[in-house]
Amino acid sequence: MPNYETITIERRDKVAILTINRPDKLNALNKLVHTEGVAALDELKRDDSVRVLVITGAGEKSFIAGADINEFGGQTPVTQRNTFYEKTFFNSIDAFPKPVIAMVNGFCLGGGNELALACDLRLASENARFSQPEINLGIIPGGGGTQRLTNLIGEGRSMEMILTGDMIDAQTALNFGLVNHIYAAEELEEKTMELAAKIAEKAPIALQLAKEAVKFAARSNLDEGLRREVDLFAICFSTEDKQEGVAAFLEKRKAVFKGK
Ligand code: COA
Repeated sequence: MPNYETITIERRDKVAILTINRPDKLNALNKLVHTEGVAALDELKRDDSVRVLVITGAGEKSFIAGADINEFGGQTPVTQRNTFYEKTFFNSIDAFPKPVIAMVNGFCLGGGNELALACDLRLASENARFSQPEINLGIIPGGGGTQRLTNLIGEGRSMEMILTGDMIDAQTALNFGLVNHIYAAEELEEKTMELAAKIAEKAPIALQLAKEAVKFAARSNLDEGLRREVDLFAICFSTEDKQEGVAAFLEKRKAVFKGK
């Protein structure tokens, strides 16, 4: 892995932890974070020793406080549109073939919330705060917020967050289904790593296909989705891991999956 300026990558057994590392700017997403994030995901995608990715923000105060507002000044409609049509960090996470967990340790605002939404699971500290505050800057979410937030929590709740820009607390985010679990701040990392390690023991190809099938639900109608599910289900029957999973069950032992 190259040395990055704005992110760090740590490996813990089969889990990689990608940390956005601009704590003095509350980990705001500037262009370099996007570029380095996309490059790191390309590497991690190809690394078979990595089974699950955790994304978090450096420091105790903030996950990500949104897009770097300092960079808005130089943007024109054309440059901004091109930037978001390019391979963004958000879309690279969405397309990442392995499970991705957002470990939300504080402010989760604007592009930060959009980045968390692009992940598969969101675990948050009790002091986390969530918002889509773009409306206060006279703009709207542009990193998938209007779409992914609405898919996840429903139109009424999404509309309220996006039209008011107000922050919601972790308990409300949990009630909305925006996060999967909340934990005391000092427990968040341990609980996240427990969940990541549990998923990392599952069959990698089945994880990838399961992720693809679930994500397809928001992008298709029911008939197309059911057809896609059957196709992906059938592919599992070509894997060694399926033979191993079934054999292990019948032999009353723990399966050891190899991603083959
Ligand atoms: N872009 C660029 N810099 C940001 C930032 C962002 N989105 N969010 C915070 N920062 C910077 C601040 O400018 C400050 O930098 P400085 O020390 O060089 O002045 C530093 O991070 C700390 O933030 P600060 O505002 O002093 O902390 P706070 O505890 O008083 O307030 C927030 C925290 C999150 C409420 C406040 O920083 C904020 O509203 N940020 C913008 C959130 C936003 O609108 N995001 C969506 C952008 S589309």
